[in-house]
Amino acid sequence: MCGIVGYIGNKNATEIVLNGLKKLEYRGYDSAGISMITGGKLETYKKKGKIVNLENAYDFSSKISNVAIAHTRWATHGEPSEVNAHPHVSSDGKISVVHNGIVENYLELRNKLQEKGFTFKSQTDTEIIPNVISDNYDGDLLKAVIKAHKVLRGSFALGIISSDEKDRLVALRDSSPLLLAILEDGYMIASDITSVIEHTNKLIFLKDGDIVDIKKDSYKIYDSDGNEVDREVTEVDYTDESASKEGYDHFLLKEIHEQPKAIEKAISLRHNDYVLNDNEDIFTKEELKDIEKIYISACGTAFHAGEVGKYAIESLAKIPVISEIASEFRYKNMFLDEKSLVIFVSQSGETADTLAALKEAKRLGAKTLAITNVLGSTITRDADKVIYCYAGPEISVASTKAYTTQLIALYFVAMRIAKAKGQIDDADIKNIIEALEKIPAQIDEILKDKENFKEIAMEIKDSNSIFYTGRLLDFITAKEGALKLKETSYIHTEAFPSGELKHGSIALIEPGTPVITVATQSKITEKTISNNQELIARGAKVISITNRGNDFVKDASTNLVEIPKTLDILTPLLAVIPEQLIAYYTSLSLGNDVDKPRNLAKSVTVE
Ligand code: F6R
Repeated sequence: MCGIVGYIGNKNATEIVLNGLKKLEYRGYDSAGISMITGGKLETYKKKGKIVNLENAYDFSSKISNVAIAHTRWATHGEPSEVNAHPHVSSDGKISVVHNGIVENYLELRNKLQEKGFTFKSQTDTEIIPNVISDNYDGDLLKAVIKAHKVLRGSFALGIISSDEKDRLVALRDSSPLLLAILEDGYMIASDITSVIEHTNKLIFLKDGDIVDIKKDSYKIYDSDGNEVDREVTEVDYTDESASKEGYDHFLLKEIHEQPKAIEKAISLRHNDYVLNDNEDIFTKEELKDIEKIYISACGTAFHAGEVGKYAIESLAKIPVISEIASEFRYKNMFLDEKSLVIFVSQSGETADTLAALKEAKRLGAKTLAITNVLGSTITRDADKVIYCYAGPEISVASTKAYTTQLIALYFVAMRIAKAKGQIDDADIKNIIEALEKIPAQIDEILKDKENFKEIAMEIKDSNSIFYTGRLLDFITAKEGALKLKETSYIHTEAFPSGELKHGSIALIEPGTPVITVATQSKITEKTISNNQELIARGAKVISITNRGNDFVKDASTNLVEIPKTLDILTPLLAVIPEQLIAYYTSLSLGNDVDKPRNLAKSVTVE
């Protein structure tokens, strides 16, 4: 949510930060801006909309500089507009700031500064920051930032430059992600790896409270009281290859097609010859055996993965699991102690709601396990144990390959807990892994059926509302389908447990209303069929996603999507693929920005 990048060094900072900014655009894209010191002056350029608008509006080729900061925004305070875009500059025009996060006490500070004669142009909370720094400035930018930090409340990743100190870039990290990258001829600060990796793999993942003072050829890191601290330089093993579309029209389509390979990798790394291995640093068998309560928490699609994980752990380990949306978790009564395990699922590892829930779980003494896709993300440092999805970078805002690889990670966690609790034996594990190994080829088969998904997209694209239904695991897949379609198509979608329709929601059905039903769970298929008939009787167009050869479902559907057969517990891995493709083709047919849907951002770093 908002991307920030900065550079100081011997190369042209303007070019480096503009290129870096493009890699961060998935974090927010309603406006973009840059400040640089060029010809001895601080200059700032901003534009509403995507980065391309900024580049088209100004000629940056003459803006040669050695220090620059840039920002791509996802609006929190103030509508998307040029005046609200970052960087924000102090009212004396000397200090420029890019910010990812929120200033909670900005109104109070704004009143105080206005009394002192400071003026404000935007509706943003961020504009307070350069002015608080300016208010504390007496010739040393670092000292002013340290003092300003003490009066600001909220979450911050900041890049700061000043026309009074032309060879200095100061950065701060407090509850929003920021890293320092060490280049051969300079330094970068950035919200994540993607914008710096083409220059270097030497990174420092800053800690909360760290303030970095960077010159062209040196840097020092201080804690929030101004004491110098040492931070480890990590050499990351990360390549940029997945950050291009590789012939696909959109990242979303590419990432949907990358699922077979990603899943294959996520499975193969976790077992040797069908025996679970210790490649991942998860809790020991003894620790897992002692766990009495399990919770799973996450947001959005990652939460749906968590709900499938809940089902898998309950089925295999025979232990109740509570799943809780992360933004609720923190404020609820959670009865946690050292015998509780809380699993947090987050593609980005930076979602503020999930990180806040994690903090709360730790405060209450629970064991914490993070499942994430992003190496070095905040969650990897905050959780006790971490396991990765191995999906590779996910650029499209709508999550696909991260979801299915989160499911793989959760199935393996479920098997480990079940094994530790003595609920499954080696033969059961072998049976599940063998079925998992077939999934990549089965997904490839579904991907070949794209003409069918295109047709369905054309049929539903002009609907006012589309409903999703299912029971048990199918209901979770229905919820994921509804989320995928609404976020990419902007059509109202909603998911209901099939059995709940008759308790009120069926009143929404009109002749022609599309209902996408997921019917893969053998023990309740008959019930779902009855619910389909009730829908058809009221004029609904029922599109069923079901296992191949299920003729009873066929008879109770107006349109059928067949998926290959697998174990009931694994069907979410297959049933979600048609949903992803239906969402893709519907968004495409409506002319939406498939990879960057309106109002959204990939990494949601505000609560
Ligand atoms: C939907 C989607 C979001 C994310 C959610 C959590 O396609 O991507 O619902 O799943 O914002 O993000 P992470 O997984 O990064 O914590």
